[in-house]
Amino acid sequence: MIRTHPYRVRRACLYMPGDSMRKISKAAGLAVDTIIIDLEDGLGYNQKDAGRTVALEALQTLDFGHNEVLVRANGVGTGRTAHDILATFDGKPDGYVIPKVENAEQVVYVDHLLRDLEATAAMPLGTLTLHAIVESARGIVDVQRIAAASPRLTALQFGAEDLAGDMGLTRTAAGHEVFHARSSVVLAAKANGLQAIDGVYLAYQDEAGAYAEAKRMAEMGFEGKMAIHPRQLDPFHRAFTPSDDEIAAAQRLVEAHEAHQQAGVGAFVLDGKMIDPAIVKPAEQVLAKARAAGKIG
Ligand code: COA
Ligand code: MG
Repeated sequence: MIRTHPYRVRRACLYMPGDSMRKISKAAGLAVDTIIIDLEDGLGYNQKDAGRTVALEALQTLDFGHNEVLVRANGVGTGRTAHDILATFDGKPDGYVIPKVENAEQVVYVDHLLRDLEATAAMPLGTLTLHAIVESARGIVDVQRIAAASPRLTALQFGAEDLAGDMGLTRTAAGHEVFHARSSVVLAAKANGLQAIDGVYLAYQDEAGAYAEAKRMAEMGFEGKMAIHPRQLDPFHRAFTPSDDEIAAAQRLVEAHEAHQQAGVGAFVLDGKMIDPAIVKPAEQVLAKARAAGKIG
């Protein structure tokens, strides 16, 4: 499938309640890859209509600089999705996040809605990006079809907390109870050229814990995490950006590989370990991530 959106780093996706002009303004002044103005679970039930008005005003009046700005609508089937999107479209967000996606048809529904709005506004079709949050047993079972449902999708987000509620799981720090679901989201994302963004780390004052969990998620192939507080930005940026040591090791490996290929050798030994093209590929990905984060040229 041909993707309509170029790659961009989304190490931290900072959520804030859409009815809080204070928090949205605060976010606009931070260096964060993606800002997500929430109209769903971050708002009180009786604040959801007010949130649309505040979110539109924020989008129209604040300067978000280079930050990407998305709006999280309420899920398809709540009766609010289309209204959330229509009410904020004039604020020109970069796109929308759809929570609790259960099947591909829900993605197609939102895709068509956005296509109609783009057509009406004489915008190039596919301008608005879309993230789907997969956070129910149904969604996990259908995640491959969801990931392939629309070329404007750029990321899948994984919601462990909602999944726990849906399935009756007990959340643990290690996360073994959601390991399979989490892994399915990464697999489906990667099989379809999408980014995989892991869910929230609730103890927002525990920066070491946030870093440790994000690092484990980076090892699993996630490229970012949902953030709920400005304190989580630094740990997430660090966890999802290759360190100087990782970059140096990757550069050394790629250079050694190239030198051996020049000499007609595919498999060779570096620091007591066999290296061949399979080992070089992850190193190239480390360098691509470092480049995307602006750490190397
Ligand atoms: N985005 C932007 N700014 C935020 C923020 C967020 N998610 N969370 C906190 N801040 C700001 C606060 O406004 C405060 O700034 P101020 O003193 O200038 O107003 C500063 O950061 C420190 O906040 P703090 O006092 O430590 O937190 P809090 O008690 O105000 O709020 C939470 C704690 C968890 C309620 C808050 O972080 C939050 O609303 N998070 C997002 C929740 C959400 O959207 N959930 C649904 C999506 S997963
Ligand atoms: Mg949720």
